[in-house]
Amino acid sequence: MNAITLSNIDYFINHSFILEDINLEINEGCYLGIIGPNGAGKTTLLRLILGIIKPNRGQVLLYGQKPADYLKKESVGYLPQRISQTIYEFPITVEELVRSGYDKISKDNFEWALDVFRISQLRKKTMRELSGGERQKAFLARAIASKPRILLLDEPTTGIDPNSRDELLQILEILNRDFCITILTVTHDIGTFAHEARCILCLNRKVVCFGDPQKILKDEYMGMLYPEHTVFPHNHA
Ligand SMILES: Nc1ncnc2c1ncn2[C@@H]1O[C@H](COP(=O)(O)OP(=O)(O)OP(=O)(O)O)[C@@H](O)[C@H]1O
Ligand SMILES: [Mg+2]
Repeated sequence: MNAITLSNIDYFINHSFILEDINLEINEGCYLGIIGPNGAGKTTLLRLILGIIKPNRGQVLLYGQKPADYLKKESVGYLPQRISQTIYEFPITVEELVRSGYDKISKDNFEWALDVFRISQLRKKTMRELSGGERQKAFLARAIASKPRILLLDEPTTGIDPNSRDELLQILEILNRDFCITILTVTHDIGTFAHEARCILCLNRKVVCFGDPQKILKDEYMGMLYPEHTVFPHNHA
């Protein structure tokens, strides 16, 4: 079953294409890494899926429904780009942050979200008392606090040290494998996600390629995506 379907999507601003003729079918349970240079339209793609912006042409469907209809009953988890680096001076606690943005979250789901990201013991701390990695986990717990079937992450490992990054990747793997959450994650951390993601989307205004990471992370595609680079760090085993 398709969790997300994008058909013939065009999105433009001031007559210039930000995304052009995007067609994608993302299966339920997929773990998709989205890569592409700065300005490729990656964040825009997530915002289209969330229904925050509407395409000029084409259609987005979440489990066969338009985003606005789907979101009446379900929620989609979302970690905006750099959110934990920009919003942290608010004097709110982890607990308040995780509950924010929702009308109501069950106690079970709330505790589950804190447990999954291993931050139960931090619940009474305010955001400014946390390290960058802990703040990121708090925002991630917020993203999953409604137990969404779809989770969209915009550069979740940016600004995170290697140990915290490995922990985070391990947790995302659990969310995908054990809880069958469909995960789309935008990343510049290609070497890492080549091992984690089951599927890679290379985006550069258009879909450059989509499929198996091992096939896609070959030089011919990377050259199309990042033409100015001849060497690319994708072979770290
Ligand atoms: N509201 C807006 N007004 C004008 N241009 C915009 C707007 N939103 C996005 N763009 C343009 O659309 C293009 C794609 O932006 P987007 O943020 O989706 O890229 P990205 O792939 O996420 O880049 P990055 O890797 O830097 O986060 C950029 O050229 C950006 O300047
Ligand atoms: Mg972006």
